[in-house]
Amino acid sequence: MPKIPVFDPSQEVDHLWQELNSSIQGVLKSGRFIMGPNVALLETEIAAYMDSKYAISVNSGTDALVIGLRALGVGPGDEVITTTFTFFATSEAICQVGATPVFVDIDPDTYNLDVIQIESKITSKTKAIIPVHLYGQPCRMDVVCDLARRHNLFVLEDVAQAFGASYKGKKVGTLGHVGAFSFFPSKNLGAYGDGGIIVTDDESVANSARMLRTHGAKKKYFNECIGYNSRLDELQASILRVKLKHIDAWNENRRAIAKRYTCFLETQVGAIAPIEISDTHCVYHQYTIRLLNSQRDKVKLQLEKLGIGSMVYYPVPNHKLPYFKGLKNILPEAERAGVEVLSLPIWPFLDRTKQNYVIEGLSRVLGRGVKPQPLANH
Ligand SMILES: Cc1ncc(COP(=O)(O)O)c(C=O)c1O
Repeated sequence: MPKIPVFDPSQEVDHLWQELNSSIQGVLKSGRFIMGPNVALLETEIAAYMDSKYAISVNSGTDALVIGLRALGVGPGDEVITTTFTFFATSEAICQVGATPVFVDIDPDTYNLDVIQIESKITSKTKAIIPVHLYGQPCRMDVVCDLARRHNLFVLEDVAQAFGASYKGKKVGTLGHVGAFSFFPSKNLGAYGDGGIIVTDDESVANSARMLRTHGAKKKYFNECIGYNSRLDELQASILRVKLKHIDAWNENRRAIAKRYTCFLETQVGAIAPIEISDTHCVYHQYTIRLLNSQRDKVKLQLEKLGIGSMVYYPVPNHKLPYFKGLKNILPEAERAGVEVLSLPIWPFLDRTKQNYVIEGLSRVLGRGVKPQPLANH
């Protein structure tokens, strides 16, 4: 019986072995490990890929959010509207800059923030909106950007899960004022360690971000504010430069796998496949299905018995996390998603045999009496 994890980078490493070896050796031989030529070139190449003016690399996706927020001037006393259904780093970053997250429920079809609900959360303290393109599915950015324009707010896109996705022909991460990407290894463009990047067209935001990532200094040893040690290292930058050349092909592989899973699920009553909203190019960082009637955990367990890994992103929406225990919000769609979603194995090198095994496994498990009814309000 094969063992299929949710994510496995090993075939990718095999595939790139020669290229990775020569670029890593190049860095080792150069003796430049921090802020060297690979970091500069990666920033230029990502700015070109995104069609944005500036790209500033940092230590992680979390730092990209924190530094992005600070570069926009978001701080104590400000409120930032975001989705409750995201990794904690999104709201943690808001708290780290001293601002307050204001959580919005999700659209049950896409799991992204319900743009209709944003306006009712805007107050005189609101400074920014953080849409998160969850699972690689772009948010409805025209509505978010229109609201932001009308209320004079910043838009910082959390693009940790959506490198290469686009909305109405434009790369996500370039639709708002700032895009914050993660290079965590499992991400669509993943390093072999931590990393992240900020993308913006705004020169003053770019300059602030550059200053903040190097201890608040524009010029070495002339520190102007409290910043961070948040630099991407040369080894990671050189690895990312190798991988960047393949990102579009790899995202297409993810889409092809997603299409096969969806074709299969359309013949089943047991689970609801993810949908793609119009005008989006989704990059399936995760392939996440919905299982109703309290069957999710049973399905997960049964898949595990067949050697098929799956993950729950995320069991607890942010407003229900222990850290936010004082909050009284009731955000029913996110709470429901927390008990119904399940992400299946997906990565660019997941071959057809393994895809078939996942499909067959799911078919067996769903055939074993796990037959949820369609959502009432769908
Ligand atoms: C939506 C989202 N935001 C932010 C982050 C933080 O990125 P990093 O782990 O690189 O700090 C992640 C990473 O898991 C994420 O999924």
